[in-house]
Amino acid sequence: MAMIAKHCPHIKVTVVDLSVRRIKQWNSDDLPIFEPGLDECIQAVRGKNLFFSNEIDKNIDESDIIFVAVNTPTKVYGMGKGFASNLTNLEKAARNIAKVAKTPKIVVEKSTVPVKTAATIRRVLDAANSGVQFQILSNPEFLAEGTAMKDLEAPSRVLIGGGQDAAGLKAIQTLVDVYANWVPRARIITTNLWSSELSKLVANAFLAQRISSINSISALCEKTNADVDEVANAIGTDPRIGSKFLRASVGFGGSCFQKDILNLVYLCRSYNLHEVADYWESVVKMNDYQKKRFSLRMVRTMFNTVTGKRIALFGFAFKKNTGDTRETAAAYIADHLLKERANVVVHDPKVLDEDMYLEFKYTLGMTPESFPDMKRCLSSERDPYAAAKGAHCIAVMTEWDCFKTLDYEKIFASMAKPAFVFDGRNILDHEKLRKIGFEVYAIGKPAAISGGC
Ligand code: UDX
Repeated sequence: MAMIAKHCPHIKVTVVDLSVRRIKQWNSDDLPIFEPGLDECIQAVRGKNLFFSNEIDKNIDESDIIFVAVNTPTKVYGMGKGFASNLTNLEKAARNIAKVAKTPKIVVEKSTVPVKTAATIRRVLDAANSGVQFQILSNPEFLAEGTAMKDLEAPSRVLIGGGQDAAGLKAIQTLVDVYANWVPRARIITTNLWSSELSKLVANAFLAQRISSINSISALCEKTNADVDEVANAIGTDPRIGSKFLRASVGFGGSCFQKDILNLVYLCRSYNLHEVADYWESVVKMNDYQKKRFSLRMVRTMFNTVTGKRIALFGFAFKKNTGDTRETAAAYIADHLLKERANVVVHDPKVLDEDMYLEFKYTLGMTPESFPDMKRCLSSERDPYAAAKGAHCIAVMTEWDCFKTLDYEKIFASMAKPAFVFDGRNILDHEKLRKIGFEVYAIGKPAAISGGC
């Protein structure tokens, strides 16, 4: 919405939310999320044509276009538990629009939703019998965290799906005209509603599939002394394959990939397409395997026990340049190590302690009640040198650039020996570390012994 406000000074954009605290934060100098470039953008337009408000009904009433951008997390209970999207918030938002609207509205699905959700919204809106004309559009968001502002400024495409009758096409054109203020027309794709809804799930499934594919090969590389980065480079030069999204890692995280694939799996199963469902589910299973494989390798390498050992995790965010921890691979690795009774110390330049503990609560069900020793066994350090001091190993979980330039001689001197490095992102200079004295293990790389024999 900030980007729309920036490029469309003639349009008034108001972001509404139930949470008073959130809106207060958005109206302050301390925004509730970290995203490079967002602060500057908001400062330039807030109070001019971008507003943040708790007055939901009033703003529904006054708006011509309403973007519904509520969260649609994976269901944790009932039918479809663990796979389906929880659409409660979406339905509530639609009911509220139906109740309040008095003039024609274009309702835009911005939240990621299962295909056919627009039909549900249509029924909810029509059930109000208000006589108000509603048009429903699907406009999924493809931005990635950490590069959100760049992605929004110059998107690879904007996708708009809508009804194919005259009124639907007119609504599509209205939204096209908004984006056309800064996005070249050729990059604005228009489709029917269902293609647009489905494309978002499919885009994320394909991206995640590439990571699981290269991660599966990383396991084979470790057995054969092939180097996964060399393999990725060799195959990525083929333009049919392409070089992006082939970075082997400790596993993908984030709020979208796993959630959207599981949603796709659920959809396929509900249409009795079990082979298709199994195919996509294997992408998530491979990701689980990669995380498990990494932590098992750590334990095995450190003489089959990490009990009582201090372990420094460098990075907890699911990727660099964000403080977001949702579905981060680091939480699964830490969980496994804690179950092996290690003392885990996390250093991340952006992640807040409260978010780290929340991640354990939500994705792993781990709370101070179920694990009373949690705060003693799992702590954080602002200073990377303090985190590594006395540790038996460093495990890189996030590809933060700042990890590359640390003084590893100083770190080595302060660690227990032998000192191990497990590079879950293949970002460090392994030869240099080996020369210092570290035993280094990386994803899909030849054996740790110097010379790679
Ligand atoms: C993703 C999609 O990229 C975006 O288009 C969609 O709108 C939302 O989901 P995001 O989750 O923000 O965006 O991050 P992304 O950059 O896609 O990375 C997801 C995960 O995959 C991260 O954990 C990242 O570290 C990992 N990853 C990515 C790899 O392990 N290897 C790669 O080569 C690329």
